[in-house]
Amino acid sequence: MGKTATDRAFFGQPRGLVGLFFAEAWERFSYYGMRALLLYYMTDRLAEGGLGLPADSAKPLIAVYGSAIYLAAILGGWVSDRLLGDRKATLVGGVLIMCGHLCLAVPAGAGALFASMVFIAVGTGLLKPTISSSVGDLYAAGDPRRDSGFSIYYMGISVGAVAAPLVVGTVGQNYDYHAGFGIAAVGMALGLLVYLRSQRHLSPVSSRPKNPLRLAEVPRPRLIAVVAGAAALIGLVAVTVGTGVLDVDGIVDVISVLAIALPVGYFTVMLRSARTTAAERARVRAYIPMFVAAVAFWCIQEQGATVIAQYAEESTDLDAFGFAIPASWFQSVGSLVLIVLTPLFAVLWLRLDRSPRSPSTAHKFAVGLAIAGLSYLLLVVPAAHPGQTNPLWLAGSLAVVTVGEMCLSPIGLSATTRLAPAAFATQTMGLWLSSNAAGQGIGAQLVKFYDPGSAAGYFGALGGGAVVLALVLFALAPLIRRQASRKGATMDDDQAAVHGAGR
Ligand code: PHE
Repeated sequence: MGKTATDRAFFGQPRGLVGLFFAEAWERFSYYGMRALLLYYMTDRLAEGGLGLPADSAKPLIAVYGSAIYLAAILGGWVSDRLLGDRKATLVGGVLIMCGHLCLAVPAGAGALFASMVFIAVGTGLLKPTISSSVGDLYAAGDPRRDSGFSIYYMGISVGAVAAPLVVGTVGQNYDYHAGFGIAAVGMALGLLVYLRSQRHLSPVSSRPKNPLRLAEVPRPRLIAVVAGAAALIGLVAVTVGTGVLDVDGIVDVISVLAIALPVGYFTVMLRSARTTAAERARVRAYIPMFVAAVAFWCIQEQGATVIAQYAEESTDLDAFGFAIPASWFQSVGSLVLIVLTPLFAVLWLRLDRSPRSPSTAHKFAVGLAIAGLSYLLLVVPAAHPGQTNPLWLAGSLAVVTVGEMCLSPIGLSATTRLAPAAFATQTMGLWLSSNAAGQGIGAQLVKFYDPGSAAGYFGALGGGAVVLALVLFALAPLIRRQASRKGATMDDDQAAVHGAGR
């Protein structure tokens, strides 16, 4: 890490950040492009080139697919930490994702869609935690540029997300679905090229598994139990889905439960593992309340694609400015705001984190969650009035939640790379990504309560709940900081050590 610690080639940040920025931007371009097209492709009539599925089954299926992808990141993290290392896992993941888009680029029907989903879930599970973890490895412990660097990296995500619907969505819908998916595949290929070219600027830590698995050391019975368990699970899913015992609603419920159970299980494994040191265990405990806050945050933020999309279509006066605003435009507001504000936040974190009174991670999280709550409380005002709402309310609310996202999401990535037990480095990143899956899983249940007639109550309850949770986290923040600083280095102390604030 020695070289990277002093490397300031890219706006004061290590050179490796450029490659990771663009590789992730292209990967997200392919992902969000595919997602922008998926619903239309699944529900369009066969004669129009679609699959002719009913919207009521397609929508929850897409939601569950999104959740499953981020849950797969826990598995991907394990493969990286124990078998492949971050670099190889990112490359294998990128190739699988590309294959997934290629499946959809050929007109081969529902079978190809299913194959594509498997490729993309496994591929993203491998790529997303490992590429994020490589960003963290660019910084030495205590480098105050870490939060700021992750904010820049996060902007890459938004650049990809904003461009995708415009390019992939437009080509797919106006010209040909498969051509659109083909462009997504090309995007991922470009991402892989960028990544390959930038490898030499990455930390050497990224090229090896952090806790290599030695098969000979694994007790036989445990190996057999794991393989048998996995086979039984796959069999169970195949049989219940194949026979129709598990319908779409059932699948949504199962994923909701899994999205909560898996992270809980994983925290337990990490806390109990003999490979986690006492100081690391204290840090993992300190991480838990922040994880809970993140789940609540994503539960609200990810409703941008469900409840808010519905509100845009049904309850917003889309002609307010003299032309028909496409409801789908609201999906881009967040990413646009994020891109515009990133330079500001990158400087803000750098200033704050270099100052002796730098706010703790928990404080930033509490502020982020509170802002997400406010974005919903803001919507109570228009929703309480009968009739169509001015679109500015919705745009304003989306801008507000994005400010919250900037306080929480890049900071969460950054904190994860600082707090993770060494043996679980990339798995912890997978766990962090699963906070999004858990938020969406809970959201999938909550959105059932949304009804345009009582929207004000819905926004008020969820927004209020988020603010209350944020206040609790704020009150706990000093405790979290202390817990994390027990027995040695901590998430915030390693910053403190740098500027000698000695907390
Ligand atoms: N916009 C974020 C991204 O695509 C959403 C996200 C956050 C996903 C956290 C997973 C975990 O990266």
